[in-house]
Amino acid sequence: MTSLPRVFITQAIDPAATQRLSAAAEVHAWDGPSAPPYEVIAEEAKRADALLTMLCDRIDAALITAAAPRLRVIAQMAVGYDNIAVSTATQLGIPVGNTPGVLTETTADLAWALLMAAARRVVEADGEVHEHIWRPWGPNVLTGADVYGATLGIIGFGRIGQAMARRAQGFGMRILYSSPQPKPEAAASLSAAYLPLPELLAQADYVSLHAYLTPATYHLMGREQFAMMKPGAILINTARGGMVDPSALLDALQSGHLSAAGLDVTEPEPIPTDSPLLGMKNVVITPHIGSASRATRVKMAQMTVDNLLAALQHQPMPYCANPQVYIKG
Ligand code: DGY
Repeated sequence: MTSLPRVFITQAIDPAATQRLSAAAEVHAWDGPSAPPYEVIAEEAKRADALLTMLCDRIDAALITAAAPRLRVIAQMAVGYDNIAVSTATQLGIPVGNTPGVLTETTADLAWALLMAAARRVVEADGEVHEHIWRPWGPNVLTGADVYGATLGIIGFGRIGQAMARRAQGFGMRILYSSPQPKPEAAASLSAAYLPLPELLAQADYVSLHAYLTPATYHLMGREQFAMMKPGAILINTARGGMVDPSALLDALQSGHLSAAGLDVTEPEPIPTDSPLLGMKNVVITPHIGSASRATRVKMAQMTVDNLLAALQHQPMPYCANPQVYIKG
């Protein structure tokens, strides 16, 4: 009797998805309250045929190299995979799966929620009411920025960036986007105009980040870029914390050049408890919950299991970050 392949899951996922996996593999899952430490994943990886990972797990070159050749599949439950040394996996012939598409609208919803909250000071106002401070109505009480009719600058015009543009249409916004290549077809249907980054920054009232984190986008928003932004503009980041230089952001907010920020991602995560951003009322921060709707997390889990099972059965992963592994050399 041949033994089943061994799979290590770094955090519990949808039970139905786990059940599908258990029918084809010997499943071991970390049962701690949150992500396992690096050392645990590294040890488990050495005796696993497949890893099912989350974006907060560091799956670096050393871990992958030490676990190969037994480790032959990495399936990540996220669209982003900057936590994984994909080039090492590729060199070793290990496919890396991800979950594009199913979280697009959910993540754009959250980006929109942050935009609205930062613009209209929703969290600050709610905080006052919960502290029994109800300031009488006044012409200058808790005034914020208009969203309707303003200009939105979208950096990264892929699935989520375009979903953001769809929402902006409903708010009568002028939509600008910046991406490595103009995307005329998608842009035409969304009435979005392509601009190089400096011009977009100079014109947008809201700048929302929607690109993958790569060496090219690391600290894409630094001191120089914040200086290019319109006075009073607002930054929204639901992509990856590493796209923003945190000290440059802090300076831009403290100087009053930016009026607010809405962040679902920070560098590092979790945000350090002594970060001055935590003390700023004009900064709305959520703990990387862009895709966190119950329905979307079920879809992500199922898609991750689809990827993982396909690879274990020596089939191409339906969604693979390094499809080069399937090209026979
Ligand atoms: C992803 O899937 O990469 C998102 O950041 C999850 O929220």
